Amino acid sequence: MNNYVKIFDTTLRDGEQSPGATMTSAEKLEVARALTRLGVDVIEAGFPAASPDDLEAVRRIAEEVGNPSKSEPGLKVPVICGLARASVNDIDKAYEAIQNAQYPRIHTFIATSEIHMKYKLKMDRAQVLEKVATMVAYAKSKCDDIEFSPEDAGRSEPEFLYEVLEVAIKAGATTLNIPDTVGYTMPDEYGALISGIIKNVKGLENITISVHTHDDLGMATANALAGIHAGARQAEVTVNGIGERAGNTSLEEVVMALKTRHSVYKLETGIETTQINRISRLVSNYTGMVVQPNKAIVGANAFAHEAGIHQDGMLKNNETYEIMKPEDVGVNKSRLILGKHSGRHALKIRLVEMGHMLSDTDLEKAFNRFKELADRKKVITEADLEAIVADEFYRPREIYRLDGLQVSCGTMGLPTATIRLRGVDGKIHTTACVGAGPIDATYKAIDEIVKMSPELLEFNIHAITEGIDALGEVTVRVQAKGGQNTINAQMETEHNRVYGGHGADGDIIVASAKAYLAAINKLLVAKLESQNGKGLESEITLAG
Ligand code: KIV
Ligand code: ZN
Repeated sequence: MNNYVKIFDTTLRDGEQSPGATMTSAEKLEVARALTRLGVDVIEAGFPAASPDDLEAVRRIAEEVGNPSKSEPGLKVPVICGLARASVNDIDKAYEAIQNAQYPRIHTFIATSEIHMKYKLKMDRAQVLEKVATMVAYAKSKCDDIEFSPEDAGRSEPEFLYEVLEVAIKAGATTLNIPDTVGYTMPDEYGALISGIIKNVKGLENITISVHTHDDLGMATANALAGIHAGARQAEVTVNGIGERAGNTSLEEVVMALKTRHSVYKLETGIETTQINRISRLVSNYTGMVVQPNKAIVGANAFAHEAGIHQDGMLKNNETYEIMKPEDVGVNKSRLILGKHSGRHALKIRLVEMGHMLSDTDLEKAFNRFKELADRKKVITEADLEAIVADEFYRPREIYRLDGLQVSCGTMGLPTATIRLRGVDGKIHTTACVGAGPIDATYKAIDEIVKMSPELLEFNIHAITEGIDALGEVTVRVQAKGGQNTINAQMETEHNRVYGGHGADGDIIVASAKAYLAAINKLLVAKLESQNGKGLESEITLAG
């Protein structure tokens, strides 16, 4: 048994499947690039059979991130994986999407618990065994690297599970993933499930056992670690723990537990942990799913010490209350990196160090934004630069862009917003509205121009750094009126999908307008493309 745990990231598949976590193709590509910088071993890029857009997004990731000629020099090229149900059509679509990656993998699954087989599949055990044999073999005929998952393994009868896994090995599977699909098991049970598999399944010599756990009872990380402790050597995880219902096992928690408690596990991962905070923010901005402040590792308070007695201890020795160094996960918010007099070259070097390779034109845009900010704010930190880059370059395709905003508010008169938007055709639209407050007035004015008023499900605002001159960052989640959340990605349409938007600016009303417009742009792109019969979000270009 080796001491290396492969990190299989499924943020773009199981994570993106959660309600409201919809990302555009450009955003998925950017997350995949960031995952490569993080050093994950496998990227599950999507579920190609779900829609033409999913297939296209996986194909682009396979070609651009899973391909050494196009990836960043010096970085390990990850395996690019596509999910497929145990059906010829799904496997064909998955292979079509991943075939151009240097290391392609097909991940196929079928349920093995009594309840799933009886009610969902309407199949008996013999039929499931037959499907596993034929579909794993079919996948193997296309691709060498095959992962098989018995869905709802956590509630499957162990003896039957062993039989299924042996059939999958004989048919060519090289990774066996053991999902606790509904987050039902307890850590000792899940650990015992993995031990039982290792003890009873024949033919495991060259097979990797993988853990895949959900957080319905808050056990996902504990279960994953119990499985790893029992001998699993791949962990399926998502950034910030996003995923179906209560989410998946969080990447940062598993990786930092293995690192911080190395003396217990004696295991390694290939993760560059200093990239953790950055990717956490990226995923949160793109999905509009805000990370709770007390979230382990990546929450805003994860390294904050409030109680006097703690602060006193920290001043004497950090290790009194800190088991990890914030720098180890890339938290270094107050690090002064550039000042008002820094030039383009210094900015470029810092951006490259942070993992952002910008073209000369984009660098010029970033420099202008940086100068604007430096005029208002004395200290420019890495967090400020991240916000500028996300706001300027990683926006969805823009049907409307904010061209001007003037707000009047206070204790006298009605809060009024005058807004100017530039349409994709270059046309300028201007209107003014009153509202209950300045943000309400701004959003009403945007609604009037774009001729839709989606439901604002969530609005979050926070300051990126300390100080009165900090950049404000806003994330919103919107849904077309009358929509309904759904947990089945395949059944989603632009009417019930939830779209996230993000905006950053020194002026919080401007940041709020940008965030709302970003979410509306995603909704409009989806609407337009489904009207044109092209499916959702096919070709997404970066703004700028
Ligand atoms: O939770 C689950 O069962 C899954 C499988 C598709 C692996 O996500
Ligand atoms: Zn899952």
